[in-house]
Amino acid sequence: MPKTLLIAPSILSADFARLGEEVRAIDAAGCDWVHVDVMDGHFVPNITIGPQVVAAIRPHTKKPLDVHLMIAPADPYLEAFAKAGSDILTVHAEAGPHLDRSLQLIKSLGKQAGVSLTPATPESAIAHVLDRLDLILVMTVNPGFGGQSYIGAMSEKITRIRAMIGGRPIRLEVDGGITPETAALAVKAGADTLVAGTAVFKGGHYRENIAMLRAATDTSSG
Ligand code: DX5
Ligand code: ZN
Repeated sequence: MPKTLLIAPSILSADFARLGEEVRAIDAAGCDWVHVDVMDGHFVPNITIGPQVVAAIRPHTKKPLDVHLMIAPADPYLEAFAKAGSDILTVHAEAGPHLDRSLQLIKSLGKQAGVSLTPATPESAIAHVLDRLDLILVMTVNPGFGGQSYIGAMSEKITRIRAMIGGRPIRLEVDGGITPETAALAVKAGADTLVAGTAVFKGGHYRENIAMLRAATDTSSG
């Protein structure tokens, strides 16, 4: 049975001067998770937020904070992000030489563990850590910025990862360039969790935008 689709708006597209309010607004608009993009200006060519900001938004929602760490190294900061109130901590397979250790550290902090793959990284990079994972995040753009276009070749990678997951209780999340059109492609390929920044925050119509993503991926309607 397919898992329920989850929508995780990326607050990278929110108004940073009103972050608490924006988090409450996407919560009220029916999001499932809140996706937090952490960038270090080293692993990716942009700098965003740190643990203090995660702690600041924590009181504004009871929904899971899905924290996407685009930082290298990640290990020295995992405890701070865990203490800040993250629920899911996702590290990049490319960010360090010891992915297995990073995942063990996340679990030891009592958090759900995710791994992300940039577009050029093959799924084989995670073949030997599957049993440590709660989440696999397939980047469908090169990480660093919102508003980019979905890379079509990623649909095949999603399908392969869906097969690798088999019966394991691992969420398969996609991130980057998700619109109602590409959401349908990603879900058809096997994704069950959608990150969307631009598509959710566009025009300020958060509830309608989230509903459009769900409707576009509703397989029951064919
Ligand atoms: C990119 C981030 C994404 C980004 C998605 O590095 O990981 O979460 O905010 O933005 P959109 O949905 O606008 O492509
Ligand atoms: Zn992200």
